[in-house]
Amino acid sequence: MNPGAASSPEPSGPARILVLGGGAREHALVWSLAREAAVETVFVAPGSDAIGDEPKACCFPNVSALDAAAVVELATRENVDLVVVGPESVLAAGVVDALMDAGVPAFGPTKAAARIESSKAFCRDVAESAGVRIARGEAFSALDPALSLARELADAPGSCGVVVKADGLMAGKGVTVCDDYATAESALRVLAGGAGAAGPFVVVEERLMGVEASLIALCDDHGAIALPPARDHKRLRDNDDGPNTGGMGAYSPVPDLPESLCATLVDVIHVPILAELASRGTPFRGALYAGLMLTPEGPVLLECNARFGDPETQALLPRLAVPLGPLLYGAAQGDLAGAAAALQLNGRMLPTTGDAAVAVVLAAADYPETPRKGDVISGLAEAAASGATVFHAGTVRGPDGQFRTAGGRVLSVVGLGSSIDAARANAECAADAIAWRGMQRRHDIAAVLPQAGGRSDASPDPVSESAWTKGGAS
Ligand code: AMP
Ligand code: GLY
Repeated sequence: MNPGAASSPEPSGPARILVLGGGAREHALVWSLAREAAVETVFVAPGSDAIGDEPKACCFPNVSALDAAAVVELATRENVDLVVVGPESVLAAGVVDALMDAGVPAFGPTKAAARIESSKAFCRDVAESAGVRIARGEAFSALDPALSLARELADAPGSCGVVVKADGLMAGKGVTVCDDYATAESALRVLAGGAGAAGPFVVVEERLMGVEASLIALCDDHGAIALPPARDHKRLRDNDDGPNTGGMGAYSPVPDLPESLCATLVDVIHVPILAELASRGTPFRGALYAGLMLTPEGPVLLECNARFGDPETQALLPRLAVPLGPLLYGAAQGDLAGAAAALQLNGRMLPTTGDAAVAVVLAAADYPETPRKGDVISGLAEAAASGATVFHAGTVRGPDGQFRTAGGRVLSVVGLGSSIDAARANAECAADAIAWRGMQRRHDIAAVLPQAGGRSDASPDPVSESAWTKGGAS
């Protein structure tokens, strides 16, 4: 069906792995790890009915991934070699800290290092100190200076607008992209109303224009190796219309972000950020996700996440031509370089099978506002028979054996192919087979591929590669 996620030789890798989470990203992680010959069992907390169907998987639906004591107890009782964390909420809950205290290797940063995602102000501060190129802006603890910068950025010659970012984990709802000062002002006043007494509550930034891409790297205190680049589609409807969502699809590779440039980006983004975090006494071990804006002047860092992206991971893992287990295990122990050397990996990028991948997300009726649950899903067997892989995010198996919807984003349907077009055709064909009452999906995932320079197919003006590799804060 899918070419191996584990086609390289496997030296020493973890045999008993615990994955924390239960969405489509975690399903993809379990699917990928279970394919490795050295892996004996993949425990999952809480997992899901569909994840439990994977070979070698063993779910613990009653163990909350957020309950550090319960996770440590499970990891110890099952004698796991490695814990792999999916969601950011688990990192922010300090579960990795508890595992480290108990001597259990964990792939995922400590709560302090995960602030690179949970605090936009911290992320800006670290990136700025590390000399990473970011949008012009600042973090504020008071409303008036924040309003002043918003005014200045909105009135600057050639301004495209202002971005207002709430500090703290906001489940993807903390960023307001504003065309003008008035919109920024009202966003700032709302945030100031709910702000606590101490510390920055908001980041104000210039609005950058371009196309976005995600570059996720496996990291430890000393270095980073990147997965191929990916691009997600955040809006609910075709043509980037409708409300923002957790992500309605993703594809990889990204033709306008060649992998040779990604290796350079790891050197000017991930590696300096890791060094800065380590120098502050908060070394980072886990997946560092750089959200990039590909501007005509080159890539600029918009945000960092402290975890694998969703739905990017669903499109990325089926493309890997190396086993993940030994690399995650090495990174968790601060020896990513040793694990990479044992797999005979050179350079900054993980090797791929050569296939492209497209992930199409199928969402519940009334997602994202009030997703309806309980609708019977048809066509899963037909989708699997078409050669695609279906990762479950929000489903439960009913007493009749049929899967029903149980969340906002319900499924990620992943197609592979020798080109993005072929992968897209595979994913679309499988997604067409699946249905339920009120199902929502996009039909344009990976349909329009921007060219180098972050411009659309229609633009004749790609920029030179040299412009893409400038370091330093703007
Ligand atoms: P963040 O959580 O910081 O990535 O923000 C979420 C989304 O807001 C990004 O994926 C972008 O679409 C948008 N965004 C964030 N910062 C900027 C910026 N400086 N200019 C334009 N769009 C931005
Ligand atoms: N796809 C965006 C994220 O994982 O945050």
